[in-house]
Amino acid sequence: MNPYNPKIVDHFMHPRNVGEIADADGIGTVGHPSCGDIIRLFIKVEKLNGKRIISQAKFKTFGCTTAIATSSIATELIKGKTIEEALTLKNAEVAKALGGLPTIKMHCSVLAEDALKAAVADYLKKNGEEKYLNEVQTQSQKHEEAELLSRRI
Ligand code: FES
Repeated sequence: MNPYNPKIVDHFMHPRNVGEIADADGIGTVGHPSCGDIIRLFIKVEKLNGKRIISQAKFKTFGCTTAIATSSIATELIKGKTIEEALTLKNAEVAKALGGLPTIKMHCSVLAEDALKAAVADYLKKNGEEKYLNEVQTQSQKHEEAELLSRRI
C-alpha cells in the first residue's frame, strides 16, 4: 500500500518553487544527520507598511519524496507571511498542510522547518539583528522545554 496521500505525491511530482533566488535576502541550508537529505531554502524579503514580508521562497532539495514535498509546501506556506510569522511555523503545520505524513517521515517536515528558520536567521544576521534572533531562539527553546516538561507530567 502507498503510504503517501495524493497531496504528498502531487508536491513530489510537481514541486512548487524549485530553484534558487540569485539575490536572496536569506539562505538556509540544513541536512539530516542520519538520512543525509539536504534542503537549501532561499527567501526574498520586502518591506511593506513597516512589515518584513517574505515575497518569494524557493528551494533545492537533495532528498526523499517527503523532503521534496515538505520543502515545496513550506515555500507555499511562507509566501506572504511576515518574518515573525515565518519563525513560528512548525513542522506539524507543514505536515498538516500535506494532509499528514507517515510517522516514519515526520522528520522530513522538521528538516523543512529547520531550513526555513535557517533562511530567516540568515536574513536577520545579514541585517544586523542578531539580538532579535537570539531573543526568538531563546523564547522558542523555552517553549519547547515547557512542552517537553508538560508531556512528562
Ligand atoms: Fe530524511 Fe526524508 S528521509 S528527510
